[in-house]
Amino acid sequence: MSVRMFAGALAGLAPVLAWLAPPVPKTWSDNEIPGYRLPLAGLGKAPALISEREFYALPEVNLKTYPVYTPGSEPAHYMEWLKEQDPKPLVDVSKLATEEDWIAAGKEVFYGRELPRFTGSEHSLQMIRDPQVLAAYKLTTSRDGVLVGLRYVVHEKGKVELGTDTCAMCHVHTLPDGTLIEGPANTKTPFGPLMGDLTRRYAKISPQMLEERRRKHMREDYRVPFLKPDPNLPLADLPAEEIARYYDWHPLGVHGRTGTSLRYPVKIANLIGVKDMKYLDRTGAVRQRSITDLMRYSTLIGDVTDALTHYGGSPDSTLKPENMGMPDGVKRTPDALLYALAKYMYSLKPPENPNGVSELSRRGERVFQKAGCASCHTPPLYTNNKLTLALGYDPPAEIRRQVDLLPLTVGTDPNLALTTRKGTGFYRVPSLRMIWLDACFLHDGSIGTLEELFDQRRLNDDFRSSNWSPTAPSHAVKGHTFGLNLKAADKSALIAFLRTL
Ligand code: HEC
Ligand code: HEC
Repeated sequence: MSVRMFAGALAGLAPVLAWLAPPVPKTWSDNEIPGYRLPLAGLGKAPALISEREFYALPEVNLKTYPVYTPGSEPAHYMEWLKEQDPKPLVDVSKLATEEDWIAAGKEVFYGRELPRFTGSEHSLQMIRDPQVLAAYKLTTSRDGVLVGLRYVVHEKGKVELGTDTCAMCHVHTLPDGTLIEGPANTKTPFGPLMGDLTRRYAKISPQMLEERRRKHMREDYRVPFLKPDPNLPLADLPAEEIARYYDWHPLGVHGRTGTSLRYPVKIANLIGVKDMKYLDRTGAVRQRSITDLMRYSTLIGDVTDALTHYGGSPDSTLKPENMGMPDGVKRTPDALLYALAKYMYSLKPPENPNGVSELSRRGERVFQKAGCASCHTPPLYTNNKLTLALGYDPPAEIRRQVDLLPLTVGTDPNLALTTRKGTGFYRVPSLRMIWLDACFLHDGSIGTLEELFDQRRLNDDFRSSNWSPTAPSHAVKGHTFGLNLKAADKSALIAFLRTL
């Protein structure tokens, strides 16, 4: 049989293979919801997710989107061509047969499913055509000039809108030679200062623009309905310059995303190896018991279905999608696309590590063992997959029983874990795999280098980390004191070892 005939025979088989494949699991089923979200420290119980019936009553979106190019790289007549396109599905599910098909479809979703929140802004469209803005925002850009976190969206023929915040925006990493790797954190784009700059721009245009594009979003993104008084809600009403300054202070590699806080952003996760994580998010906000838990995570954040979660019983316990840039309410990505996306995340492989094993790193491995690091950062995952207590949290016995807890605190800043909607009161033991790619350390990214992490001086009030904005005030970064007392030579060896993981 010739190659062509063979390929033809395979193509003919696709529907049969698709039929033989196991069915797409349900993202939302009432019997999987209990135990999925961890109890929140400030609420005393888990927030209530919507029911299976409510979830499947949400309208579905499976809409093809298109790459956005830097001004110099756009193919000739590209915008005219886009205007001729009819709305089409992002993924044609009926064509998915093999495991490779599913993974490739998941990659489409990763790059192409735009978060519906910010679509269609003329202001943003003008901005990304401004070379000065592009230079300052350092958006991830492929070698052929594609801005990978942005997409053009065609909801109706003839109308091309800019969409943002695909998964690729935050989860594609740029190596020094310009190679893009999917999964690890974007440590190139200064998300905080970018938000700060936008805030100043909106304020300059008009108070209405500031209200519509920033304050309104902040109120929903950051408020914590079950904390009275809510420490995050009033931040939306600070003067624009003060809001902008807080954003400026977010170090590279963290994000003040929905569910965190203007003041307590969180380190962006690496998705390579996510399958091994028993708890997702630095606060272990949800469990990952199976692939459907990851599918549910993806719609909770990607479609912002989390806006419908009840954070307590008060009338304002759910968010207002209309204030979050979703005037038509929440829409969901179909199960098959979420399944493909999860399979894609599971398929991601670590890039080659340039830091080879050396005499020094081997010595560092012995230091790692002797200093007791492995009891928490246990090989081969370099995490024991357990949660630790945030400083000051003493959960009731009933909550302790529900989680895989190492009942001690490493003493880092407790605010993300205690004063946000992700506030379980816990910090998980993070994996140290691929830590050589990271631009910051600890859940809030408050430390810029491994050298600083193991330097006593960070405990002093006059400490400034190398990754802080020049306007950020000096302060101590407390906690996780492991390794601080090692001899200088042992520290260098330990760091050399950590960079090989
Ligand atoms: C705006 C930036 C941003 C975008 C866009 C984004 N993420 Fe994330 N992602 C983060 C941050 C920050 C965290 C860490 C959250 C935490 O620890 O609380 C994270 C965490 C995760 C995790 C948990 C991993 C772990 O080990 O805890 C998964 C899974 C994930 N993201 C998948 C996705 C998917 C799928 C999409 C697209 C639908 C997406 N993310 C879009 C910033 C982003
Ligand atoms: C008692 C458990 C425990 C021990 C022992 C421990 N760690 Fe950690 N480690 C943690 C926790 C928990 C965090 C996350 C703290 C946070 O997010 O605020 C962490 C964070 C880290 C980080 C930053 C990772 C990131 O993604 O932010 C590094 C690096 C690290 N530990 C290395 C070490 C080394 C090296 C040792 C031994 C000298 C050690 N740890 C000992 C629990 C431990």
